[in-house]
Amino acid sequence: MTYFITTPIYYVNGEPHHGHAYTTIAADVLARYHRQKGEDVFFLTGTDEHGTKVAQAAEERGLTPQQHVDQLAPRYRELAAALGASNDFFIRTTDPEHEAFVQGFVERLKAAGDIEKRTYGGLYCTACEGFWYERDLAPDGTCPDHGIKPTWVEEENYYFLLSRYQDRLAEYFRAHPGWVKPKSRYNEALSFIEQGLDDISISRSSITWGVPVPWDQEQVIYVWVDALVNYLSALTYARAGEDLSARFWPASLHVMAKDILKFHAVIWPAMLMSAGYEIPEGELIHGYLLVGGEKMSKTRGNVLDPFAVIAEVGAEPLRFYLMRDVTLGQDGDVSMEGLRSRYNNELANELGNLVSRSVSMIGKYREGAIPAAPADEVVQDVAAQGEAMVRDSRAHYDADEVTAALESIWEYVRRLNRLVEEEAPWKLAKDEAQAGRLDAVLHGLAAGLRLVALAVYPVIPVTAVEILRRLGQAHGEADLLLENAVWGGLTAATVGVAPSLFPRLEAGA
Ligand code: MSP
Repeated sequence: MTYFITTPIYYVNGEPHHGHAYTTIAADVLARYHRQKGEDVFFLTGTDEHGTKVAQAAEERGLTPQQHVDQLAPRYRELAAALGASNDFFIRTTDPEHEAFVQGFVERLKAAGDIEKRTYGGLYCTACEGFWYERDLAPDGTCPDHGIKPTWVEEENYYFLLSRYQDRLAEYFRAHPGWVKPKSRYNEALSFIEQGLDDISISRSSITWGVPVPWDQEQVIYVWVDALVNYLSALTYARAGEDLSARFWPASLHVMAKDILKFHAVIWPAMLMSAGYEIPEGELIHGYLLVGGEKMSKTRGNVLDPFAVIAEVGAEPLRFYLMRDVTLGQDGDVSMEGLRSRYNNELANELGNLVSRSVSMIGKYREGAIPAAPADEVVQDVAAQGEAMVRDSRAHYDADEVTAALESIWEYVRRLNRLVEEEAPWKLAKDEAQAGRLDAVLHGLAAGLRLVALAVYPVIPVTAVEILRRLGQAHGEADLLLENAVWGGLTAATVGVAPSLFPRLEAGA
């Protein structure tokens, strides 16, 4: 079974921010989860480097577009690495292999008879890199996504005859009711299609920063066509001398926020139909990270810097916080206070302390050796609940519900904390007659934490591996497979005492 998952490729018009980090983290969580299921996974992310928006950003900095993108693209690559993303490739649309592929792709649209030259005028928002209908603008005539006034642009361009695909798209939607998630976004895209589709301009003569139209050097290919094609082109050159297309196309899941739904759920499948490719199996549309109720964006100037947060608290707390607090599909406010509170309550108090206490009690009462499982009702109870937690969290991950998966895991973390409180091992230790009960509790904690580590691995992989290590458990790639997430999988081992996983953060730190 293969699983090909993608993030949008981000515009390199400024420094990356939390919004970009959020999508990359969500996609990474799903990529890691599918690897844990033993699937053959390919995870793609990268940068979108052509178009007006990037050319303008370069001009503002007094650089050529190429100099500008060469300076900024590495920041996006660094962000993926700093977040702990396990992407298998990082595509840049200025890669010559990509550019050549895009030209071949538009040739296929032309060969299908779906390209025509026409003159067009429309209201263009450079922040969206897209045209708006007057009726869809805010009452003051601004772009609802960016709050800036679109400008009238008139050009002779090549058109992709999108209108021809209206019926086929609607039919595709009806035959694949789950292909865009959540349902509200599916409905939005379908109703957009049903309202009637206009043909779209797919080239520009007013700018030069882009991939030339192969049959007309006066024009460059529209940045969105260039960008969408990355999902296909990357597979042809990500591995030298190997074409991964047959193995990984169609993509399993394109992950993105709702701002670019129309491009992915309407234009992209029509382009693929025209060029003779299969349609991706799924698209997951998430909401916006907000700051004080407003969308975080470069254009609005209210971005949080993920590098600063990672330097301060580390990548794992950021991954945890964003996945825990902002349910995929909904909008959510983010702040440093919110992060600190999740960190202190859930990572430091509930998980970190549980690991430290469990390991130190096994150290203190059993010389570090995890006791074998005695038949005791207390163990049977936590065992059944632990396996139920694994089942529930898997069902949620399978449905791309990462927040809900974390909720099931945390209910169980709390259950293990209650086990410590209720059984009070420090009291049991004082009574020789309770030795069996103490063994049961300590065994239960170690086996339970091992299941927590396997279940939480997609979200906080470094922490998960560290928990396994402290429990003396094997933690290689094969050991992380979910088929091992059974209660009896705990092996006899000696635990290792180590500093606290999540030292508490002080307010304002
Ligand atoms: N270059 C295009 C995408 C081309 S994909 C073929 C683009 N780039 S972008 O830099 O503007 O990135 C948009 C994406 O970044 C969103 O769809 C989302 O994945 C992420 N986000 C940017 N800001 C965000 C928030 N404030 N909140 C959540 N996600 C955000 O569009």
